Amino acid sequence: MARVVVVGSINMDMVVTTDTFPRLGETLFGTHFSTHPGGKGANQAVAAARLGAEVTMIGCVGADAFGGEMKATLAREGVDIAHVSTGREATGIASITLSGGDNAIIVVPGANHELSPEDIDRASAAIAQADVVLAQLEVPYATVLHAARRAREHGKPFFLNPAPAVELSGELLELTTLLTPNEHELATALQTPEGAWGEVIARSPVRIAMTHGKDGAYYADANGALVHQPGFTVEAVDTTGAGDTFNGALAAFWHLGIGEAVRRANAAGALSVTRAGAQGGMPTLAELEAFLNTQARDSQ
Ligand code: RIB
Repeated sequence: MARVVVVGSINMDMVVTTDTFPRLGETLFGTHFSTHPGGKGANQAVAAARLGAEVTMIGCVGADAFGGEMKATLAREGVDIAHVSTGREATGIASITLSGGDNAIIVVPGANHELSPEDIDRASAAIAQADVVLAQLEVPYATVLHAARRAREHGKPFFLNPAPAVELSGELLELTTLLTPNEHELATALQTPEGAWGEVIARSPVRIAMTHGKDGAYYADANGALVHQPGFTVEAVDTTGAGDTFNGALAAFWHLGIGEAVRRANAAGALSVTRAGAQGGMPTLAELEAFLNTQARDSQ
């Protein structure tokens, strides 16, 4: 069983479904409203836990109802919440509008922005025992950098999902074992042209596994050759959290080698979009294996 430490955000997702996105200044009737547990960090933690990893979450929520609910959800999923602290600000929220298979998201970080380097140090025993330390960028950059430094000190692989997209410093890149952007995040993180991703992945000194929507994912093999791991075709209900599922799965399956880890992460990401909510469709290990067996039978 892989041991994964996730450093990241915990949000309550407020999801509105609508037939069309509103224009500036326009008021529309939506068709449905629901709340779902979310936040890139919490989503990745839940994805890894459902797939059988032993997961510790390092995060921060507010002293409010959402914070309590989010901690309870993580605990129910088997995630260790001993290092989820309580800040002064409100629990982070994401306002998500879904329409015709697309989404638009505004995140209000709240307590997520209180996650500090000291919180990382308090969890150093968990980092020392981890197989993978996984972070995103919805918590302060300085805290992520500190986590990367601690992972390096303990000789642990550090995975960075550079979302939301920002330019990454040389130091953070040097400390990163695996960078997991989408196409846009890769261009922003490394300040490279959007269309040049194939060359960028093949030549990058930091290893990259880039997600590419339904098309699957790309990474470079040990000789620097670009490898395409195709995606799986499913009926999409809600694509929120597909990338997070990919990341959690990649960490959970990293011990199987990059090719198999990416194949399984693609499958987990595909299954995640078949139900509502970022965490709603994330598969268990048994569901993932059943899906992969069905795919293998269908391709014979
Ligand atoms: O990646 C999806 C997540 O991004 C949502 O759950 C939302 O909380 C935002 O953080």
